[in-house]
Formats: sequence, C-alpha cells, structure tokens
Amino acid sequence: MSLKTIEIYGKMFSCHDCGTEHVLVFLHGFPLDHTIWNDTASFLSDRMRVIAPDLRGFGKSDIPQAKVVTMEQFAEDVLLLLHQLGVASKIVLCGLSMGGYIAMQFAKKYSERLAGLVLCDTKSAADTETAAWNRRKRADRLSDLGMTSLADAMLPNLFGNSPDEQKVSDIRKIMLRQPLQGVAAADRGMAARPDMTDLLATFEFPCLVICGEYDKISPPEEMRQIAQHIKNSSFEIIPGAGHLSPVEEPKIFAEAIKNFLTCLYEK
Ligand code: MLT
Repeated sequence: MSLKTIEIYGKMFSCHDCGTEHVLVFLHGFPLDHTIWNDTASFLSDRMRVIAPDLRGFGKSDIPQAKVVTMEQFAEDVLLLLHQLGVASKIVLCGLSMGGYIAMQFAKKYSERLAGLVLCDTKSAADTETAAWNRRKRADRLSDLGMTSLADAMLPNLFGNSPDEQKVSDIRKIMLRQPLQGVAAADRGMAARPDMTDLLATFEFPCLVICGEYDKISPPEEMRQIAQHIKNSSFEIIPGAGHLSPVEEPKIFAEAIKNFLTCLYEK
C-alpha cells in the first residue's frame, strides 16, 4: 500500500498509488474515501498500477472552501492528479456511484485519456427536482446534524440482504471521519449534476457496467439500461451484493475487472 500526497494548485490530495503497467483509477462514492478500494486493489495491483485518490474534501485531501463542488470539478481534479503523478498513458477509470457520476464527466471532457470505463452502482440520470431539493436541504443541515445522522440514514440502503456486520461497521467508521464541509459541498454538486444519459451512446471506448444484485439506490434494471445505451459494453451483476458491491464482494468485483482488462489489453 503506498499513500502519496500530491499538490494541485496549492491544494493537497491524498492518493493510494501502487503496482505497475496499465493504469486503473478508482473513484470512491459518497460520503467515503479511497480506503473502500483497499480490498479490491489488493487483488489487482500485481498486474495494474492502481491509483485511488481521496476526492477533494474527503479522506485526507484538502477541504474545499467552495459551498459546491461539481462533478466536473472533481473530474478536472482527476486529470490534474494524473498529470502530477506522471501518468501520460490512457487509463481505465472505475467509479462507484458518485465516483461514477464523476467518471462520466471525465469521459465527456477527456475521452482521449480513456482506454476503458467501469461504471459501478451508479446512475446516468440527474436528480429529480425533489431529490435535488432534499440533497441541498441535507447539505445545509449537515453542520447541525453531523455525520452520524447521515450515516444512520444512508447505511440501511448500502448493503445486500445479509450484510457482513464488520463491513457495515467499517463503512460507518469511514463515513464518520469525513469532513462535514467536503461532504456538504459534494452533496450540493450531486444535486446540480446534469443528466448524462445521452452521452452514453457517444462512448467510443469499451465499458463495463457492474451492479450489486440487491442495489437499492441504482438497481440492476436501471444499470442494465445504462449498458444498453453504450455500444461496446458488458454488464455484470455481483451476486448477493448491494450498492457497495466492491466492498461486499471485492474478489468477485476484481475478477470482473480482470476479465475486462484481459479483453482490453490482451486481444
Ligand atoms: C454514493 O454511493 O456515492 C451515493 O449513493 C450517490 C448518491 O447519493 O447519489
């Protein structure tokens, strides 16, 4: 495990970076940090260089001053981070949920940097007006209510039907240590994110769409439709898992990625 600290325009980013050869970048979900990828990365870093940043305002990365961090801003951070890490080659980008929203923005703006894309337990649709309003309200109240109330509200929807209690407790701990200001800014950014569904048909790179069988937030049927919009895509269901499929089933998740990489690089 190798943790680096990278500076971008005076802001510090913390980033897991290990392995060799082709580059795989993991983007975490909300309100989490790069450590959710530790188990998955351990199955992959013998054959890939695995990079997993803490996004702006999460983990050990600097907290934004801005009230809103857009998905576009996060995507730009990823591009600059690659530059600072000396990655000039095309990458495979894998985003979980909020990480998927960011990955789609990255694909829109910097498609020339992508060898492939993995969209995991995410959505291409924007929030409905009600959902966006609820998010903004949640973000505005976060400094009063604290991360405990957010974790209590989110956790019941994140795991499959028979969750591993240790993993639930680990995810809760990860949530509780996230900075309120960073979490609120990302929540407002998600409320403002555009609908990306029309973009999917323009993807020229191979894409793997992965979904936990019991994902309540981005259910398999919704994710199957994402895959159907993309010309060169495959769709994988992770049996038994919920929304946090790489956390619940890291080995199966890593196998799906390995198969995707084999098709991508060894054809
Ligand atoms: C996540 O896991 O990143 C969140 O469920 C994303 C969201 O709130 O839309």
